[in-house]
Amino acid sequence: MKLEKLRVSVAGLGLIGQVHLVNYLSHPNVEVVALADTDPERRAGKLNRLHGNLDEFTKEPIALGEFRSYEDPFKMCEDKDIDIISVCLPTDLHAAVTLKALENGKHVFCEKPPALTSREAIRLTVTAEAMGKTLMFGHVLHFWAEYVEAGKIIESKKYGRSLAASFARCSSRPAWSIGGAEQGWFGNPERSGGVAVDLHIHDADIAVWWWGRPQEIDASGAFIGNMPSVIHSRWRFRDGLIAQFEATWETVTTMPFYFNFKVTMERATLLFDSRNADGLQLATEDKLVSIPLKKAEAYRLEDYYFIDCILHGKPVDRCPPESSILSLDCVLEEARQIAERHRGITSV
Ligand SMILES: NC(=O)c1ccc[n+]([C@@H]2O[C@H](COP(=O)([O-])OP(=O)(O)OC[C@H]3O[C@@H](n4cnc5c(N)ncnc54)[C@H](O)[C@@H]3O)[C@@H](O)[C@H]2O)c1
Repeated sequence: MKLEKLRVSVAGLGLIGQVHLVNYLSHPNVEVVALADTDPERRAGKLNRLHGNLDEFTKEPIALGEFRSYEDPFKMCEDKDIDIISVCLPTDLHAAVTLKALENGKHVFCEKPPALTSREAIRLTVTAEAMGKTLMFGHVLHFWAEYVEAGKIIESKKYGRSLAASFARCSSRPAWSIGGAEQGWFGNPERSGGVAVDLHIHDADIAVWWWGRPQEIDASGAFIGNMPSVIHSRWRFRDGLIAQFEATWETVTTMPFYFNFKVTMERATLLFDSRNADGLQLATEDKLVSIPLKKAEAYRLEDYYFIDCILHGKPVDRCPPESSILSLDCVLEEARQIAERHRGITSV
């Protein structure tokens, strides 16, 4: 069967927009037809892959073909010759641009977090459903080999049920955006949502994927200036499982980016740390083994999966929008608790 070519556009050509763009350019059933960005250089296609903390990418220039260019992503949503819009804009623009794209009959891939409020995020899923369009939020860990494999082991209950878990995700403040760490959009909590909504949401989303909705959330944090920059959080699930999380945006630029998790099951423990070359490890009563996993670029798998769902009319059940919304709910509750406790501290 010969499959159609989907006409794809990318809104926002920063760190993550460039990652997705490269993947679309390599897909045999995709034609990149339009790009949107306020930055004239990027809009003209002068892209040099940014590095950020995604060190799996090289800095080679991106080879682009012909494309239409827009300064305003909302205008691009009205372009009739586009099938898909990939929303890679600052977070405060996600909901409005995604909504406009869906209302104009586009399929949408929107980077995480889906929105800055649950109400906006729900409206997106309702609109996608009503328009009969595919919507997926970019929770890349659903395609990250170690998280995928750990999820399978946990779900199988081969080693009993999960009793406890811990997750960490720490880096320096995002400084790659235009304007840098403080003046760029990441430095404005009303635009990025702070560390819980932007960074910790990756792990929150994994916990929700593996174990569902937590029954209790108890979060505290620290601010650097007016920015929520550290989160320590504990969740309790209905069956007694407890999970704890740490995520930080450090002030110092020398801080290496790392992430890890540990899951204690009844008869084994799963371990993963991005700094450890052993990869995903399983500790059982008699041995500690590294689980061999095929290395693949998670972002490419994510983009190809999204395209595949559209080409074959399949639901996005590997990274369902409902799960993304649930994890957004959780981090917004954490952010609320952190802000409330911070107000208590600053008013003493
Ligand atoms: N899934 C992941 O691993 C991952 C990694 C990084 C970022 N993200 C998410 O992706 C989104 C983008 O992050 P980023 O790091 O690529 O940011 P970035 O600052 O590197 O890129 C944003 C781009 O949008 C453009 N832009 C800003 N305002 C615009 C407007 N009004 N109209 C058109 N273009 C505009 C900027 O010029 C820039 O090129 C964020 O929501 C972030 O949370 C996800």
